[in-house]
Amino acid sequence: MTAIDFELNLKSVRVDTEPDMPLLWVLRDQLGLTGTKYGCGRGLCGCCTVHIDGEAVRSCMVPAQNVAGRRVVTIEHLGADPTHPVVQAWLTQNVAQCGYCQSGQIMTAAALLAHHPQPTDEDVDLAMTGVLCRCGTYPRIRSAIHLAAQLQQSPAHR
Ligand code: FES
Ligand code: FES
Repeated sequence: MTAIDFELNLKSVRVDTEPDMPLLWVLRDQLGLTGTKYGCGRGLCGCCTVHIDGEAVRSCMVPAQNVAGRRVVTIEHLGADPTHPVVQAWLTQNVAQCGYCQSGQIMTAAALLAHHPQPTDEDVDLAMTGVLCRCGTYPRIRSAIHLAAQLQQSPAHR
């Protein structure tokens, strides 16, 4: 076991874990943050996506030791902000169906919009490809991303 210090949702945390334990399991099993979902465990589905230093990353593929000293943000933080443009857009477009993939979709979309405030359809497709939704909510996801892009240009979000 190793003590690993990092920032999680704007707070400093320390976990004692195996260095190669996937971040996904540290979040879910050790820290109780179950909004980040397990799908494939192989980096293929995207439902475990979190932000590490502002980048969308599949937490099932990240050994815990790799987040030492870094900033991790999960859906529990982003989703708790009802004024966040992505959250507002998701609710407005009623994106979720069963909801299982949606934390990964939202975290991926938020990272996309941070880097591309006005993404084209091609930007959206590139960023969101491989974040799988068995319910087929892809058209609503795309609409919500474009709406979030508009919302974050509004004076309230500047
Ligand atoms: S559970 Fe991580 S990509 Fe599928
Ligand atoms: S909303 Fe059901 S898997 Fe995406």
